Amino acid sequence: MPTSIARAHTNIALVKYWGKADTDLIIPQTSSLSLTLDQFYTDTAVTFDERLTADQVVVNHHPLSPAASRKVRHVLDLVRHQAQTTAFAQVTSQNHVPTAAGLASSASAFAALAAAASRAAGLTLDRTALSRLARRGSGSATRSIFGGFVEWQAGHDDATSYAVPFQEYVTWPIAMVALVLDPHRKKVSSRQGMQASVTTSPYYPAWRQVVAQDLAAIKPAILAQDFPTVGTILESNAMRMHALTLSAQPAYSYFNGDSLAAMQTVRDLRAAGTACYYTLDAGPNVKVFCQAADLPTITQRFSAQFGADRVLVAHPGPGVQWLSEPLTD
Ligand code: DP6
Repeated sequence: MPTSIARAHTNIALVKYWGKADTDLIIPQTSSLSLTLDQFYTDTAVTFDERLTADQVVVNHHPLSPAASRKVRHVLDLVRHQAQTTAFAQVTSQNHVPTAAGLASSASAFAALAAAASRAAGLTLDRTALSRLARRGSGSATRSIFGGFVEWQAGHDDATSYAVPFQEYVTWPIAMVALVLDPHRKKVSSRQGMQASVTTSPYYPAWRQVVAQDLAAIKPAILAQDFPTVGTILESNAMRMHALTLSAQPAYSYFNGDSLAAMQTVRDLRAAGTACYYTLDAGPNVKVFCQAADLPTITQRFSAQFGADRVLVAHPGPGVQWLSEPLTD
């Protein structure tokens, strides 16, 4: 069967997904809203081959063990079922994202896998179906099918839980500065962490209300390109998500000392007149939402603090696409 290659970009949630209603189907407790980024992406090639005796998954030139490739094989099984084939697959993936450092490599990885595997198996899925398939690998991947601002509508079952573009082509001159404060794999996976929050944090019911209010408020602010309102919402939403880690039993945290220092720098920049706002996912890396015109001030400040090689700049990025060229580094 032919090889299919797809590229998907990561996304950063402005209103976070933090908790599942159904852990098998990955149905979230709440809707969420993200911005797809142009700088961090995954390219994945998939070939189904009758001669293979098992799925083979290679990420960044390293073969994954059967345990490490479990989620990938789960998505491949769903594709095989839909395409009515029993052939195993060769999956080769190149991450242009610091893996598992809170820059959401699973989002781009499973979006690219859904697109490449479905096409390689001969399926022609529309973007809603791709979004549902990507969701089965990792929740946040459901949003990486689309570019720009994207809403994952929680739904209540497999058929109704998928992402929709909120504003796919972004003309607003905004940027996201990613500070790579610790490139290592996180200790508490988002999967474990969010379930601990759902089952043990007394604040979880309040989080559902926070998300509903933040979604209602951030959408008109995005359309109006109201930077302080969007920034204020995304910063408080992130802190309230992280409050669910601190209030879990046992408590845990994704912050390290540099995360706290970076957050303080953002507040200092703001106090000195440079509008910018921070957000963090399930890792210590801080992402700074800013206006493109302020990038020189902001990148200089963080380069002085952490080193220029730890300061990455991204802009709004596109949805999933198929590539015709073989993978390169
Ligand atoms: C903090 O999508 O990685 O980035 O569905 O268990 O694979 P699974 O979790 P994942 O969680 C992402 C959590 C987050 C917030 C977000 O992206 O909305």
